[in-house]
Amino acid sequence: MKPPVLVDTKDRFLKACRREPVDRTPIWLMRQAGRYMAEYRALRAKHSMLEVCKTPELAVEVTYQPLHLGMDAAILFADILLPLEPMGAPFDFAKGEGPVIFEPIKDRAGVEKLRVIDAGELGYILETLRILRRELAGKVALIGFAGAPFTLASYLIEGGKSSHFVKTKKVMYGEPETWHLLMQKLSEVVRRLLRAQIDAGAQAVQLFDSWVGQLGPEDYREYVLPHVQHILKDLEETGVPVIHFGTGTSTILPLQKEAGGTVIGIDFRLPMGQARKLLGDDVALQGNLDPTTLFAPPAVFEARAQSVLDQMKGAPGHVFNLGHGILPETPVDNVKRLIDFVHEKSAR
Ligand code: CP3
Repeated sequence: MKPPVLVDTKDRFLKACRREPVDRTPIWLMRQAGRYMAEYRALRAKHSMLEVCKTPELAVEVTYQPLHLGMDAAILFADILLPLEPMGAPFDFAKGEGPVIFEPIKDRAGVEKLRVIDAGELGYILETLRILRRELAGKVALIGFAGAPFTLASYLIEGGKSSHFVKTKKVMYGEPETWHLLMQKLSEVVRRLLRAQIDAGAQAVQLFDSWVGQLGPEDYREYVLPHVQHILKDLEETGVPVIHFGTGTSTILPLQKEAGGTVIGIDFRLPMGQARKLLGDDVALQGNLDPTTLFAPPAVFEARAQSVLDQMKGAPGHVFNLGHGILPETPVDNVKRLIDFVHEKSAR
């Protein structure tokens, strides 16, 4: 698979992460490689999700699929759950249901059995990154990623998606020592994996704490913050930008900032201007168009995108993105239109 023909994005994504001046606001979209694209669905008709992730040639091909739409960064094609398999908790993606962990963790013994693996056990991820970095150099930036310990712990304990996270919180409140042991193991694996991704060529990494908005500030501080800090303080030494992302996080954003990150991800529920007031201007922000606006007429999502740009104007350090991942039925034409709109309206 040859890389697509791309224009040099002038490192505007990496510059914005570092709060340096840019010629235009950079944009990329979470889940930009996925089911809204016909090319992706065609490839998935032939290969399972895990097969795509574990075959560098296929993962590279999927990473490239959206880039002709003009994003300023490519994100490694993989999944946050991949480390769980070598740790001792195999899973699969069930059609229509999302991820299913075959034997969810029930007790202390289950946590004790989990292996704190080295990143080399996920060599296929590192190989995919090495190929991407070689082929994308000088064109678009390359983002690596991992799941944050709370979000991973919730999958391990719930066994899949959840609405109230009752099992997770039962361990957290009822067996705090077991909880912290689990979080320690996960955060060390994630720290090693992100370090290895950076060594393999990732120019920025994103930590996905997608479900951490289930917690208020007191619980976040006690049960999550030290573990996220273990990862992010270590990564600071590398000088590589880290995007710290979650959803439903309006009340815990200042604590997420305290835990670390060069860029804080803002979901679509909090206006960017308010996020800026809450977090100050010594950190970059990423966000935050509501992904469902891409189903609206272009005039509607363009007005909303303009509002995001207006709220950030003048402040360095804005990476345009959706407030959460792009949805599977999203019209591709609207994605292209959004990317062009953001580039055009933000030209300095
Ligand atoms: O962003 C990208 O383009 C890179 C690839 C990527 C995937 N998953 C591919 C994927 C990334 C960054 C992820 C992260 C991820 N995975 C998260 C955090 C991001 C978020 O949205 O909050 C989470 C919670 C997961 C776990 C996961 N993987 C779920 C819940 C699902 C099922 C989703 C669904 O709608 O069915 C997956 C599967 C998955 N990971 C798909 C993709 C493209 C869909 C797979 C398919 O059916 O082809």
